[in-house]
Amino acid sequence: MDTNALSATARALVAPGRGILAADESSGTIKKRFDSIGVESTEENRRAYRDLLFTTEGAAEFISGVILFDETIRQKADDGTPFPQLLASKGIIPGIKVDTGAKKLALTDGETVTEGLDGLRERLAEYRELGARFAKWRATYTITDVLPSQLAYDANAHALARYAALCQEAGIVPIVEPEVLMEGTHTIERSAEVTRAAHEALFAQLYEARVHLPGTLLKPNMVLSGYDCPTQASDDEIAQRTIETFLASVPAAIPGIVFLSGGQTDEQATARLDAMNKLGPHPWELSFSYGRALQAPALKAWKGEAGNVAAAKAAFLHRARLNGAARSGSYTPEMEKV
Ligand code: 13P
Repeated sequence: MDTNALSATARALVAPGRGILAADESSGTIKKRFDSIGVESTEENRRAYRDLLFTTEGAAEFISGVILFDETIRQKADDGTPFPQLLASKGIIPGIKVDTGAKKLALTDGETVTEGLDGLRERLAEYRELGARFAKWRATYTITDVLPSQLAYDANAHALARYAALCQEAGIVPIVEPEVLMEGTHTIERSAEVTRAAHEALFAQLYEARVHLPGTLLKPNMVLSGYDCPTQASDDEIAQRTIETFLASVPAAIPGIVFLSGGQTDEQATARLDAMNKLGPHPWELSFSYGRALQAPALKAWKGEAGNVAAAKAAFLHRARLNGAARSGSYTPEMEKV
């Protein structure tokens, strides 16, 4: 394992002022996004949409890496350049989602375990050939009064650790994503408790699997009140609770934490990342790996029409710039108006 190269890639992904665009929506998820703007999810429409994002002039100043889906890593830009090469030519590191989704975990009350380990060594070798230098695997946990079960924490942590070790063997930086879902009536205290338990199970397994932490990134949820909780914590409380929880459960050897947005509005996702960075310095870089929160305004502006591409690119660049500012705690709500 080339630990120096892995660490260098991980650090480059969380370079100051930059973060990750998650554009790895599976076929089902991108269909949902396209349905919301009345666009048919054909292979060409998916390609055209990704082309729009990846060819946005100036975005590389704020975007260090892009997570691709299996179909996308094999597609080409309008000018015929394969997407991974196009991104690399702009100084953006290509990444790949490699899990095959959350499946029902047997003998539990509707909990899930994420699959995708079978044949993963061979798939990683191919993705590296295609240009991928980092990968993503997402586990999800639903909060109720009694769940997640210890079984769900342990099964997902074990799979995440086996995935991470295979990535590092292949010279690919693993992003490990233990996502505690934000849907529910739970309080912010309960979110903190579950997030901490998910991290504890994960880091125990990463250690057992001999994973090199300086060559690994964590992609977690923020600690916040469930969307249907009657009392909603403020951005400052979310920032404080998230940092407090992470200081207790995430080793300083991890170079960076790249948050998912998880259904927060794009402005909330930016403001909360900014609030956390205002509380710094922290042992790790605090950055973003947003899907919806980076793409929502661009998707809305595009509506599948070639004539809207310039407006969609402008909307994407604007969101990328604001999240870039949040990396150093220098975002202000006034910046939204430009
Ligand atoms: P969201 O930012 O839309 O939650 O997506 C990030 C992601 O990649 C989830 O796996």
